[in-house]
Amino acid sequence: MNAMNERISEIGVVPVIKLNHPERDAALLGKALCAGGVPIAEITFRAAGADKAIRLMKEANPEMLVGAGTVTNTAQIDAVIAAGGEFIVTPGFDPELVAYAQAKNIPIFPGCTTATDYHQALKFGLEVLKFFPAEQSGGLAKIKALAAPFPMFRIMPTGGISLKNLKEYFACPVIAACGGSYMVTADLIDNNRWDEITAICKETRRIVEEARA
Ligand code: 3PG
Repeated sequence: MNAMNERISEIGVVPVIKLNHPERDAALLGKALCAGGVPIAEITFRAAGADKAIRLMKEANPEMLVGAGTVTNTAQIDAVIAAGGEFIVTPGFDPELVAYAQAKNIPIFPGCTTATDYHQALKFGLEVLKFFPAEQSGGLAKIKALAAPFPMFRIMPTGGISLKNLKEYFACPVIAACGGSYMVTADLIDNNRWDEITAICKETRRIVEEARA
């Protein structure tokens, strides 16, 4: 795997984050994640200004890997690059977006949940694929079934993953990392519960380490 994929896999989890108030929260949230051993964030375009949040989080926490999620057009990819974002995540497989990100040299993790998606991913030379929405698309059973004909991919499932089922996912060797919004909910952010975010991250990391031991 390339260096970016190695780093994501080493951390093992990717918090999926919607930030409505980047100026207020991005820097503090980054610190809380780092303190919990999770120096990575996928900031989604479900809230406008995701590129601003990426810039503010990265500036305040340069050791973090900060990327964008729910990317659906090329203008967003340009905005992420201009903001210093380091990776792109898309909900589904859009060949135009994959080609665009590759031409701009920014790693992209497109959502893939079918053999047809995996065929396309192969053509683009991708190594790590998002599998979204994971639980709703067949979960670990489907990831394992697709790994039989496509053993070359490492998978990053998101959607329905929490502290309850994280361990099961990590028992499967094709899992590169798991993503989820449970580490950073709107309630935790809006009420400044930074210590709780750190605690959830620590517990997440503990589960990942234990499952991989
Ligand atoms: C994503 O965009 O990756 C998912 O919405 C995260 O899913 P979750 O909210 O079920 O963790």
